[in-house]
Amino acid sequence: MALPPPGNDRAAIVTGASSGIGEEFAKILTRRGYQVVLVARRVDRLEDIAARLGANAHPLPTDLSDRDDRASLPDRVDALGLVPDILINNAGLSTLGVVAKSVPEKELNLVEVDVAAVVDLCSRFLPGMVDRQLGAVLNLASVAALGPLPGQAAYAAAKAFVLSYTHGLRGELRGTGVVATALCPGPVDTGFGDAAGFTKEEADAALPRAMWVPADKVAKAGIDGLAAGKSVVVPGGVNRVSAPLFRVAPPGLMLPLLTRNHPAMKRR
Ligand SMILES: NC(=O)c1ccc[n+]([C@@H]2O[C@H](COP(=O)([O-])OP(=O)(O)OC[C@H]3O[C@@H](n4cnc5c(N)ncnc54)[C@H](OP(=O)(O)O)[C@@H]3O)[C@@H](O)[C@H]2O)c1
Repeated sequence: MALPPPGNDRAAIVTGASSGIGEEFAKILTRRGYQVVLVARRVDRLEDIAARLGANAHPLPTDLSDRDDRASLPDRVDALGLVPDILINNAGLSTLGVVAKSVPEKELNLVEVDVAAVVDLCSRFLPGMVDRQLGAVLNLASVAALGPLPGQAAYAAAKAFVLSYTHGLRGELRGTGVVATALCPGPVDTGFGDAAGFTKEEADAALPRAMWVPADKVAKAGIDGLAAGKSVVVPGGVNRVSAPLFRVAPPGLMLPLLTRNHPAMKRR
């Protein structure tokens, strides 16, 4: 299964394209000749990235935590004269800290962006792809999707949702000409840790260097996996070996270790 071919009116939508892995997706896809729709909130960053990527990059400032903003996306893509063949649900964030001390609005914002936006955009863009019998959807999960994570409980659960949802989609999409893949990176050095509230020292101490994969390599692994029709892509050799162990290990065995090592649990 190859990716839908690029064309002057064919688009790849990349959410969270204003930094990190999303910016790398946008670079790869514009290099391959796709029209790329850049979705995120920070207008200045989107415009700066679009200016560097050239005429095939189209900034579409959107707050994915806002239901009306999400609902407006198909019409805004259509107004650009573009047909969405590829959807990369990459935007995401984590909160940090124990649920008992959490801020409800921040936890719900995580659920809106990491979960509801993925569901919403799949619901809005998949019907057209299925009608055209052509499309590809890449959803950003995480190795954190494979087990519980005390200190980032909502984040791991949100990514577990995305992983399960993408497996379900694959089953539904069999024979339609549309493919869905989940990308499960380990740690990646982007704005993600900062936005969550990790210090660099905490992140480095909690996660061995061998697990870290650069954002450009993660994005390329995701695109290649999507083009190959894979169900799940785990970038990085160490992560690929450890991910299945994390998935099958009984929570009772893993929880004491995870609880002891997580920076948020040490701050309590
Ligand atoms: N970095 C890691 O270690 C790691 C590991 C596994 C999985 N992931 C996943 O990879 C994806 C990309 O993360 P990253 O590492 O590239 O982090 P990042 O550099 O912080 O990028 C996150 C992106 O999400 C966008 N975003 C956040 N809230 C948004 C909102 N309300 N509306 C629209 N866009 C929003 C941000 O754009 P604006 O702020 O401009 O809106 C930004 O472009 C996420 O889904 C993350 O969970 C990351």
